[in-house]
Amino acid sequence: MNVIIRRYASEDREALRQIAFDTALMGRSAQLFFDGPEFIKDVITMYFTDYEPQSIWLAEIGGVVVGYIMGAKDEHEMNEVVLTKILPHLCVEFLRSGILLKEKNWRLAIGALKSFLKGETHRPDFYQEYPSILHINLKDGFRGSGTGTALLAALVDDFSRSGIKGVRLGTMSDAAAAFFRKSGFSLLFHGQLSFLNEAAGHEVPGYLFGRKLS
Ligand SMILES: CC(C)(COP(=O)(O)OP(=O)(O)OC[C@H]1O[C@@H](n2cnc3c(N)ncnc32)[C@H](O)[C@@H]1OP(=O)(O)O)[C@@H](O)C(=O)NCCC(=O)NCCS
Repeated sequence: MNVIIRRYASEDREALRQIAFDTALMGRSAQLFFDGPEFIKDVITMYFTDYEPQSIWLAEIGGVVVGYIMGAKDEHEMNEVVLTKILPHLCVEFLRSGILLKEKNWRLAIGALKSFLKGETHRPDFYQEYPSILHINLKDGFRGSGTGTALLAALVDDFSRSGIKGVRLGTMSDAAAAFFRKSGFSLLFHGQLSFLNEAAGHEVPGYLFGRKLS
C-alpha cells in the first residue's frame, strides 16, 4: 500500500468526519452508543476542521482518505473556542433535532451523568507539561502497517518545531494504548468510563498518555 501523508484541505471535511464517526468507540462505530451521526461528528471534529485545520494531517491511499491525526496546539485556546463557538452551535442542534428523545441517547446521557457523579470523568490537570492534545484514527482495514506511526511523526515534527513542550491524548482502547507506549508516550492516568460498558460489551478503560516534545 502506497500511503501518502499530507495536510488537510477543506474538501476533506466530510471524509474526515465519516472516519471519526466510524471509529469513535475504540475503533468501532459511534452508532453503538449514539443515535445522530451529524451531531456526534460535530462533537468530535468541529474544533479541528473549522478552527485549527492547519494541525490536521491525513493518510491517503489511491486517492482515498483512510485516516487522520488532528491536534490542538494549546488546549486552553481550544476550550475557549469550544465554549464560545461550538457549544452554542451544539445546543441549537440539540434542541432542533430532538436528539435526546432517542432512547439510545438519553440512556447514554443518564449513564454519563452517573459516571460524572462517581468522579470517573475527572482528570488531573496536565496542561503545564502537556499543553497540546491529539486525536488519531484509521479506518478498519488500514491499521497495523505503519500508517499511524507516519501520521504521528507529521504532527510531532510540526508541534516540536513550534516549540510545544508536550502533547497528550485520551484513549479507551488497549490496542491504541500499546501503540502509544511503542510511540514514546507515557501513561499519565488510568481510570474507567463505565457509561460506555454496555455499548462496548466490556469494561471500558480511560487512559491518558503524554509525550514530551523537544
Ligand atoms: C491506534 C492506531 C492509530 C495505530 O495506528 P497503526 O497504523 O495501526 O499502528 P502502526 O502500524 O503504526 O503500529 C506501530 C506500533 O504500535 C503497536 N501497535 C499498533 N497497533 C497495535 C495493536 N492493535 N495491538 C498492539 N500493539 C499495536 C505495535 O507495536 C506497532 O509496532 P510494530 O509494527 O513494530 O509491531 C490505529 O490502529 C487506529 O486508528 N485504531 C483504531 C482507532 C483507535 O483506537 N484510535 C486511537 C484513539 S486515541
